[in-house]
Amino acid sequence: MTRQFDIAIVGGGVIGLSLARALTSSGAAIALFDAGAIIPPATSAAAGMLAPSFESSDAGPALGEPLYHFGARALSLWPDYAAALEAETGVNVDFRGDGTLGLAFSDDEVKSLSEQAAQVTARGGDAVLIDGGEARKMEPALSPDTAAALWAPQDAQVDPRRLLIALRAAVKKKVVQHIPEKVARIDVGPEGVSCTTQSGATFVADKVVLAGGAVSGLASSEIVFPVKGDALAVEIEDGALTRVIRGPGAYLCPKAGGRVVIGASEARGRTDRDVDDAVIAALKESAAQAVPMLADAGELERWTGLRPGTPDGAPILGEAGERVYLALGHYRNGVLHAPAAAADLAALIVDGARHADLESFNPSRFSAPVTAAAHHG
Ligand code: GLY
Repeated sequence: MTRQFDIAIVGGGVIGLSLARALTSSGAAIALFDAGAIIPPATSAAAGMLAPSFESSDAGPALGEPLYHFGARALSLWPDYAAALEAETGVNVDFRGDGTLGLAFSDDEVKSLSEQAAQVTARGGDAVLIDGGEARKMEPALSPDTAAALWAPQDAQVDPRRLLIALRAAVKKKVVQHIPEKVARIDVGPEGVSCTTQSGATFVADKVVLAGGAVSGLASSEIVFPVKGDALAVEIEDGALTRVIRGPGAYLCPKAGGRVVIGASEARGRTDRDVDDAVIAALKESAAQAVPMLADAGELERWTGLRPGTPDGAPILGEAGERVYLALGHYRNGVLHAPAAAADLAALIVDGARHADLESFNPSRFSAPVTAAAHHG
């Protein structure tokens, strides 16, 4: 078995690409397997919210807190990460560090946002409940029916499609070998790991990192499974909405040029790529409840994506036996987590240094084996 690479990364989404970029400074010879159109990365379907204040509650009581802190640390890396990527590649990733407003229209929703504000504050974050009038001063396009809002000034956003363009360019510049194929099988032996692609080609590396999405076939389907999300984009006057708005039933992410991404549904276990018209209609209705001008906004496109869900809503990061590392299951937070996940895994793989944050996300927390296709010989 002749080794061709030091590290093989399986997965061409934001996690695999960020890790490849982080690893190049070690001088390692890296192969990046990207299944491309066979398995489009969840990243291309994402809205790009960097929102630990809103996106940590899906993890159960044990992991909600570590997930929040990991997300908050990742968020703190984002301004420099975006600036460095931009300087390296000339691609503007439309990073916006201008906060998120979560809206409430009913008493129950106000109560729920108030509890959320208390939780974020108790975890050391910045979140405050403001009244509807204050929210409308910040975003005049909000509905006059807005009763209250949770203002999370630290939350941010980025454009995931621009981010993919930037990361692909960055990785290409750094001489990572890009192999545009789906990996069908991984065999781990005493001398290395061989990755066999769908076309039958075999590549051998010292170590492998599984960083594919929900349907890569390389992770056990009980532990990493698809959570399908439909979304759409509409067009409004550029600048009419400036911040991420999270209303009941939909979130709205204003991007460059007046594009507003409206997302997203959640359907666990669905692997099809059909966009459901009824789901899109419901998202539009919820969006117009939050920002009435959106009722008349022209639709630019609609799409679906498959988030990589896990049973406890937290990612799977770390070693899974000899030579095999996992960077899986980022569910709703892949874009947010990318800079921290990449830095922590690179340190683990290259130096054996384990960041404390990785403990909570260790693959060993699952009793069943996480990998489906890593055969140890
Ligand atoms: N992070 C938002 C979503 O997954 O829909």
